[in-house]
Amino acid sequence: MSENETSRDDSNSVSLEPSQSFVLTPDVQKLVSRATAYLAAGYPVHFCGPAGTGKTTLALHVAATRGRSVILMHGDDEFTSSDLIGNDYGYHRSKVIDNFIHSVVRTEESMSTLWADNRLTLACRNGDTLIYDEFTRSRPEANNALLSVLEERLLTLPKRRPSGDGYLEVHPEFRAIFTSNPEEYAGIHRTQDALMDRLITIRVDYYDRNTEVQITTAKSGAPVEKAAVIVDIVRSLRGTDPAKHGPSLRASIMIARVAVQQKALERWDDPIFLDICRDVLDREIDKNLRPSEERVLHHIKAAAQSSKENGRAAACS
Ligand SMILES: Nc1ncnc2c1ncn2[C@@H]1O[C@H](COP(=O)(O)OP(=O)(O)O)[C@@H](O)[C@H]1O
Ligand SMILES: [Mg+2]
Repeated sequence: MSENETSRDDSNSVSLEPSQSFVLTPDVQKLVSRATAYLAAGYPVHFCGPAGTGKTTLALHVAATRGRSVILMHGDDEFTSSDLIGNDYGYHRSKVIDNFIHSVVRTEESMSTLWADNRLTLACRNGDTLIYDEFTRSRPEANNALLSVLEERLLTLPKRRPSGDGYLEVHPEFRAIFTSNPEEYAGIHRTQDALMDRLITIRVDYYDRNTEVQITTAKSGAPVEKAAVIVDIVRSLRGTDPAKHGPSLRASIMIARVAVQQKALERWDDPIFLDICRDVLDREIDKNLRPSEERVLHHIKAAAQSSKENGRAAACS
């Protein structure tokens, strides 16, 4: 978890405080404000966008600002509804031996199932903020319980749960934040339309250059000028093929962290820097355009050059 953990009230929910390393530029603030407003009005929020655009980090930050305990779940193809709401985990057997009159022995045995609430039930019961990260990785039928939670604010539970009459009224402070990557579920599960219909979807795309430079600096410890060169290299490799999003912010953070640790200079003629860039970025280069090494080198040279020129221009103005 990237947010600071302060205490745990049970094994599932966590008290979060906004992280010191969370970068809040105007671009990020806009997304945070929109999400906060929708949650305050009682609606669930859904951050939707490509990998590495900061969705999970945003969800954690927004959840932390609510000041309620947070429960985090990750979508999983193997999930069934009991992974969300709860299940029996064994039997409780009790035996009473009545030997009050010693010539007569009366025994009484009873069996009852033991029930454990799972994360959705706990969050609904306690009024937590539920983060359901990559929820479309779970099959739609596993997520069905969420429909009545979000619409009627009632969680339907199996009759065998000992307390409640087969349902639970959702705590008024319960809120949910979802994240998903639209490219992932296109081929895997059909869109979970009924669920999507109940969420307010906020599209998240790559941040502006300034935000990416600040995040790379904050996450790697690299000076701003070094982070800027790296971010420019990574950004120059995006958007060549609209179907492919290219390297994300994660690539910038990786290159910057290793470059700092290896004391590599952010120059194309530093062989260590070139190796780091090549290793982190090679996967992102269109394989049809071999030789990729040359292509990576070309991008690095061009981006490092233009970044240097931008820096010089900024210094002169
Ligand atoms: N606002 C931010 N402040 C600090 N770091 C961030 C911020 N947004 C994203 N990051 C960092 O960028 C990387 C990718 O973010 P993440 O939330 O995991 O993306 P996604 O969930 O969209 O794949 C992570 O290392 C994360 O710590
Ligand atoms: Mg994520």
